[in-house]
Amino acid sequence: MHRIPKEIRELIKDIKELRPSQSKALDAGLLNNKNLIICTPTSSGKTLVAEIAFLNHFLKKKGKIIYTCPLKALATEKYKDFKAKYPQLIVSLSIGDPDTKEPYLANSNIIVCSNERLDSLIRQESPWINEISLLIIDEIHLLNDVSRGPTLEVVITLLKKLNPKLQILGLSATIGNPDDLTKWLNAELVKDDWRPVKLYNGIYTNSEIDFFNEKENIKLEEVSPDSTLNLALSTINENKQALLFVNTRRSAESVAEKLSHRLKHNDELKELSNKILNSLSTPTEQCKKISDIVKKAVAFHHAGLMQKQKELIEENFKSGKIKIICCTPTLAFGLDLPAFRSIIRDVKRFGTLGMQYLPVLEIMQMSGRAGRPSYDTYGEAIIIAKSEEEKEELFNKYLTGIPENIYSKLAVEPVLRTYLLSLISINFLTTKEKIFNFFDETFWAYQFEDREKLHYIIESMLELLKDFEFIVLDKEIKPTKLGKRVSQLYIDPLTANFLIENIQKAQKQEYDDFSLIHLICSTLELRPLLKVKANEYEDIESEVLQYKLLHKDEFSDDFLDSVKTSLMFTSWLNEETEDIILKKYKVPPGELKYKIDIANWLLYSLQELSRLLEYTETARDVKTLRVRMKHGIKQELLPLIKLKGIGRVRARKLFNNKIRTLQHLKIINYEVLSKLIGRKTAASIKEQLGVPIGSLKDY
Ligand SMILES: Nc1ncnc2c1ncn2[C@@H]1O[C@H](COP(=O)(O)OP(=O)(O)OP(=O)(O)O)[C@@H](O)[C@H]1O
Ligand SMILES: [Mg+2]
Repeated sequence: MHRIPKEIRELIKDIKELRPSQSKALDAGLLNNKNLIICTPTSSGKTLVAEIAFLNHFLKKKGKIIYTCPLKALATEKYKDFKAKYPQLIVSLSIGDPDTKEPYLANSNIIVCSNERLDSLIRQESPWINEISLLIIDEIHLLNDVSRGPTLEVVITLLKKLNPKLQILGLSATIGNPDDLTKWLNAELVKDDWRPVKLYNGIYTNSEIDFFNEKENIKLEEVSPDSTLNLALSTINENKQALLFVNTRRSAESVAEKLSHRLKHNDELKELSNKILNSLSTPTEQCKKISDIVKKAVAFHHAGLMQKQKELIEENFKSGKIKIICCTPTLAFGLDLPAFRSIIRDVKRFGTLGMQYLPVLEIMQMSGRAGRPSYDTYGEAIIIAKSEEEKEELFNKYLTGIPENIYSKLAVEPVLRTYLLSLISINFLTTKEKIFNFFDETFWAYQFEDREKLHYIIESMLELLKDFEFIVLDKEIKPTKLGKRVSQLYIDPLTANFLIENIQKAQKQEYDDFSLIHLICSTLELRPLLKVKANEYEDIESEVLQYKLLHKDEFSDDFLDSVKTSLMFTSWLNEETEDIILKKYKVPPGELKYKIDIANWLLYSLQELSRLLEYTETARDVKTLRVRMKHGIKQELLPLIKLKGIGRVRARKLFNNKIRTLQHLKIINYEVLSKLIGRKTAASIKEQLGVPIGSLKDY
């Protein structure tokens, strides 16, 4: 500890002694502006290394600090943690939509953000980007991830170029090739195998957890024939907590539901259950489901839940009220939770080649959520095997396996063209030479080394962007106004061009809401589409004839799928309930919500592009459709939906009771209104309309 300057020591006074990896980081130049890759086991204390570094930058007034994470949940956890620990620092959290403006970030000392958000802050040309002196990248091994990696890679390369004095601190899980990362970033490697709390890895079959001589096997009483439930129930019986990992959202929900049927209500959880239920003005079926399950101290957690609900679940797992969370890998990375056990039910996931084994690296990450030093003295990570044969296979693959190497995924085409445009748009890359130089410094170039091929690919993409009229390709390369907006809208240039071509078509040809919906269902962003089943084929094919489609690619394999997906959105816009949509299209509410969010974003992009091209009428049509998409309502409810607290259900109720305008709501008797939508909402509406009814207590 004495090696840390006194001023920093005073701020981390709860820490009595440094861990081996933390001392090694100091030796490697943590306080001397050295770039470091910290490659140490889960829960070994990588965050503290980051904290020491940022306190150093803060105290020496070196500049702004960025702490970037792959997941919103992780960013939120770190933000809360830093804010509570270091009141001296202005800590901000930035995880919102790409187009949100957050001018107050200019005054923050440290911004905790998601990788995607950092990228959008750069694209927005936030004025403080040049002031960043320390970039901390949590879970940097996710460079390997097809969907998250490329953003991170471009952001790192860019910030490194923008600010040559930038200190980079990469926090990584144990990976096969840490040297690659280290050399790429011109960094020092801090490697260590010590974990402060012992994590026992086991495999569960036939009611027994085998720890392979590391620890005595545990024979469980068989309270359920379903091994997943049995393991989860035994954890609860021991008054411990567990994270239970499965491979789909649907499984997360169904396992949590099954588990909840085996447990008793806990009155203490009523309030939480209500909060979760009312996270949306009109609770969805999914809200009801999760709020019911939570009463039994169980939850599910996946990307389809509302942010607020996810946070409530995480907080209440931390406080010990929720005992089991059934989750997709959204909780696999970096979170510091009181899970005594990590239970891994699914070791395979559906990928491009069918069901595939998860990498060792990912299983290690899930396992590592258990046995965290602030909560336990040891932990258990248990994989469920279906048979003795599978047990052996899993043992060889995961318990003795070594983590894989990580590789750049930047070469994926849509990704590359998106970033190329983005870097030109912020006027960072203004000549071909600069573009080549930039890409030569990416992890991709470092690993593949074939510069010539790389330059050829980039050159053909520049031609494409020029053809789209998103850039002017001369000696100097410049973005057009359109290109700049496309980049800020965060859509693939190919999608943007497709939308533009079709808006132009729409000026000469009749179109309606369905045409617009179908247009966005024909983009890459809305993939995967709903699949047309054999028995639906004829119906949909004949229905197609009656639509005024702008884009009709009958030869494409998934043309009919795009029509089916459009029909699902139409159901939503026609105010069909989530239940009916689930029955008709087999889409659970969480997934529907997820698709609606993307549709919303694409409609917003369509609206913006129409506006920019001065197709005012189309822009107006799209805007109306977008509001309807957001709320799932028919056009006639538009005036009512403007009010806070009024969602699709309440708006419909009002409308059917002949209350159809804000003026009517203003003059209607409060008691009558209360009967329809409840006193609290009625009071809030009166207030919003400027006719407050006084204190609620009076009624
Ligand atoms: N020197 C220390 N003394 C006591 N506790 C520590 C020390 N360093 C870290 N910790 C505690 O150890 C816990 C785990 O640390 P942290 O979350 O940073 O792990 P990590 O290495 O980032 O793991 P993961 O790879 O899972 O993200 C935290 O609760 C932290 O407060
Ligand atoms: Mg961590």
